[in-house]
Order: sequence, then C-alpha cells, then structure tokens
Amino acid sequence: MTIQFTLNNKAVSVSEELADMPLLWFIRENAGLKGTKFGCGIGQCGACTVHFNGEATRSCLLKIEHLNGAQITTIEGLANTDTLHPVQEAWMQVDVPQCGYCQAGQIMAAASLLQKNPNPDESDIDTHMTNICRCGTYTRIRKAIHLAAD
Ligand code: FES
Repeated sequence: MTIQFTLNNKAVSVSEELADMPLLWFIRENAGLKGTKFGCGIGQCGACTVHFNGEATRSCLLKIEHLNGAQITTIEGLANTDTLHPVQEAWMQVDVPQCGYCQAGQIMAAASLLQKNPNPDESDIDTHMTNICRCGTYTRIRKAIHLAAD
C-alpha cells in the first residue's frame, strides 16, 4: 500500500513504511526541496509552513499518514512557472527579509491569509500570522501583506 498526494502539483506515491514521517522531513530529505525550513520541530515557530489543501500548516507536525489525497504546496510551488506570486513580489518590493531563514514560512502563511481574506485588517494579520521571526521583520511583513492585498 502507498500513500498518494500531490506535491507542487506533481503526483507523489509514498510507501506506508514512511507513514510516521513528518511531512517536513519528506519535503526536505526525500523530495529535496530545501526552501521549507526546520526551526523548532514542535509547531511553534512556523519556519516549516506549507499549504495543506490551501491552508497554512506546520509541516513538522503533519505526518505522511494524513496526506492521502491531499494537495501540498511548498514555497517552490507557490509561483506560476513564469511569474512570482503577488506575495513574493510584495516581499521583494518591501525588502522584507533580514537573515531570511523564516521567510518561506512567512510567505506561505501570508499567501494563505490573502487567499481566504483578500483585504485583511491589522487584527486579521495578527490572528493569522503566528510565525516567529528572530530578526523582528514584523513591520515589513505587515507592510508587504497590505501591498500584496492592493
Ligand atoms: Fe515546524 Fe517550527 S519547525 S513550527
């Protein structure tokens, strides 16, 4: 038996022997997609955020066994092939990152927020954006989200 899902729109079939593996490990070590980062491993920091059926999700807490039929998108699959996602464009315009480590997760969280709520207010952003940035880029993250929402 295998567990089948899509990863950045490509069909993936994984042996049930890997059912216990956290998705983050699979993404980085098996699929070789290194944009999604390991931070805490306990669902706190958000560095590992991906989209699970469109929802921002901590991939360190999501086991492969729960992925049958799921659509998983990582930072590598967020943009169309030729154009960046509007959130990525806004991130570049505002020059959000400092060290950059958490930023893929931040972008995935912001993209999911704007998908559900195209014009979030400050309170919506505070509620949805729970990812931690050790450099404290929160002001620029907020600015970029508003820019992407315009
Ligand atoms: Fe998953 Fe920190 S590594 S939340």
